Amino acid sequence: MFKFQSALIGLALLGSAFTAQQWHAQNSLISETRTFHNSHQKQLSQLVQRQPPLLAYIPTYYKDVQPILDKNCVSCHIEGGIAPFSLFHPKEAVEYAREAQFAVQKKKMPPWMPGGESPKFKDETKLTDDEIAVIANWAWAGAPLGKTTDAKPRVLPTQQNSKPDVVMDIGKAFVPNPELTDEYRCFVVDPKLESERFITGYNIIPSNKKIVHHVVIFTVEPQMVPELKKLEATADGRGGYECFGGPGLPIRLSAGASNMGFSIMGNWVPGSKGGIQYPKNTGISLKPGTVLVLQVHYNLLAGKGSDRTVAHLNLADTTEKTTGLRGSIFMSPVEIACPSGISSDPNNTCSREAAYKAVEPYQGAELTNTLRNGLLLTYCQSKPQHNNGISTTQCNFPVNADRNILLVQGHMHLLGQSIKLELNPDNPKTRKVILEIPNWDFHWQSGYWLENPIPISKGDTVRITCTWNNTPENQPIQNGKQLEPRYTVWGETTRDEMCLAGYTALPRN
Ligand code: HEC
Repeated sequence: MFKFQSALIGLALLGSAFTAQQWHAQNSLISETRTFHNSHQKQLSQLVQRQPPLLAYIPTYYKDVQPILDKNCVSCHIEGGIAPFSLFHPKEAVEYAREAQFAVQKKKMPPWMPGGESPKFKDETKLTDDEIAVIANWAWAGAPLGKTTDAKPRVLPTQQNSKPDVVMDIGKAFVPNPELTDEYRCFVVDPKLESERFITGYNIIPSNKKIVHHVVIFTVEPQMVPELKKLEATADGRGGYECFGGPGLPIRLSAGASNMGFSIMGNWVPGSKGGIQYPKNTGISLKPGTVLVLQVHYNLLAGKGSDRTVAHLNLADTTEKTTGLRGSIFMSPVEIACPSGISSDPNNTCSREAAYKAVEPYQGAELTNTLRNGLLLTYCQSKPQHNNGISTTQCNFPVNADRNILLVQGHMHLLGQSIKLELNPDNPKTRKVILEIPNWDFHWQSGYWLENPIPISKGDTVRITCTWNNTPENQPIQNGKQLEPRYTVWGETTRDEMCLAGYTALPRN
C-alpha cells in the first residue's frame, strides 16, 4: 500500500476536485490509447529470415512446444482470454508459430516489464533461453506437430480459489463503450468496517477476461469519500465513473499533509492467478469508513461485452496481533518538452505555460501553481534533461525508517519510456536497483513482489528517475489520427503524464 511519504518536504499535494464531466471532456478526445498491428502479413514480413541458432534436434508441438505454451501463453491466449488469438489448440499454435517465434525472440511475449538491473521478482513470466530456442526452432522448421503420444498431460493455469471474509462486488455488470479501444472505469465498493481491520490477502476476479486488461484496488480514507460521491454523482449513469491515472481524486500537495488520503492496495493483470496473501501476521490496515475503489482497464481490441469484477478480501482475526505493512510513494517532476524545443509563446502548445493552462481546469489552481512555480523541481534539485523529444527527470528522497521492501510498482502514462527506482544511487558499495522498467508500457503495469525482500535503513536515499518519449511517432491516436507532440506536465488524464513509484514494506526493529 503506497502513501505519500511524510518526508515529502512539506511539499504537499493540494488541489481542487475536478468533475467527471471535466475529466470526460479531456479524455473523450482520445478514443484509442494504442495502435494495434493485427496484420498477420506485416508480422510475417518482419519475420523474413529470422533464423534462430539451431538446436541439435527439431522440436515438435506435442513433445516440446505444448508444455511451454500451456505454462506461459494460454492464460491469455485462449478462447475468452485477453489476447487477440488463441494458442490453445494445436491447429492455432501452428497457425501462429511464426508470430510466436518473433514475439518470444524479441522478448515481447509473454509480457514482463521489469528488466535492466531489476532484482529477481516472484512469479516472473519470462521464458528461459532454452524455451525461446525451442519455440524458435520449431517455428523455423515449419511447426511440426509430432506424435500425439508424445504429449504429456496438459497443465493449465487456473484462477486461484479463495475463501473470502468479504466479497467486494461492483454491483452490476458494466458494459464498456464498444467504440473505444480502451476504457478506464472506477467502481466504489464499501467493506462497511466498524472497527480497524487488517487485510491479509485478496483475490481479484474479473468475470470477463476477454476485456479486462488490468485492475487496481485503491483504498480511500473516510475524509475523501465525499469526493468519490461527487465523482459518482456526476458520472454518466453506466455504473462507476471514468478515471485514468488513478482513482480520479484530487491530489493534495498542501504543506504538512502526510498523505493523499488514498493508496494502491493491489493489482490484477491478465495471466496472474489473482490471489495475494501477505506474509504471515502482516496486513494492510483499514480504518472504519475506508472504502475501496476498483479501477478496471477494459481493453476492447480482442473482445466486447460486459464485465462484473469482484474482489475477495481476507481479514485478520481480531484476536491476532498483526503488523501493518507500510507504503511509500516517490515522485519526480513532469516537465516534458516538444522535440522542437520549448516555445516562449504562451499560446503555442509547445510552451510550458500552455501546458499548465491546459491542466488547470481539472487539476485545480493550487496544485497547478505549486508545480508551475517549480516547488517539486526545487525540492528535487533536478534539472529536466530534454533531448529531441526525450525528457528525463529525477528526484532523491531520504529513507526515514528501517524496513524490508516486499512489493514495488511504478506508474507513468502513455509517453513513459522508462522508470527506475534505486537505493543509494551515489554509493557504489550500497547501491541497489529496486525496480527498473526499461521499456515502459502503460498497458502492462503491475506490482512486483521481490523474491528476496530489500532491507532499507534510516539515512538511505531512494532515487526515482523517469524518461518520456515525446516524439511524433509516440503520440496517442485520436479518431485514427496521430496527435502532435505538446509540452506535457503532471496530470490525471491520458494526455498528461506522471512519474510515480512506490513500495510496500514491513517495519523492521
Ligand atoms: C498476460 C497475457 C499474455 C500472455 C501470458 C501472453 N500473451 Fe501474447 N498477447 C497478449 C495480448 C493482450 C496481445 C495483443 C497485443 C498487446 O496488447 O500487447 C498479445 C499478442 C501476441 C502476439 C501478436 C504479436 C505481438 O507481438 O503483438 C503474439 C505472436 C503473441 N502474443 C504470442 C505469445 C506467446 C508465444 C506467448 C507465450 C510464450 C504469449 N503471447 C503470452 C497477451 C499475452
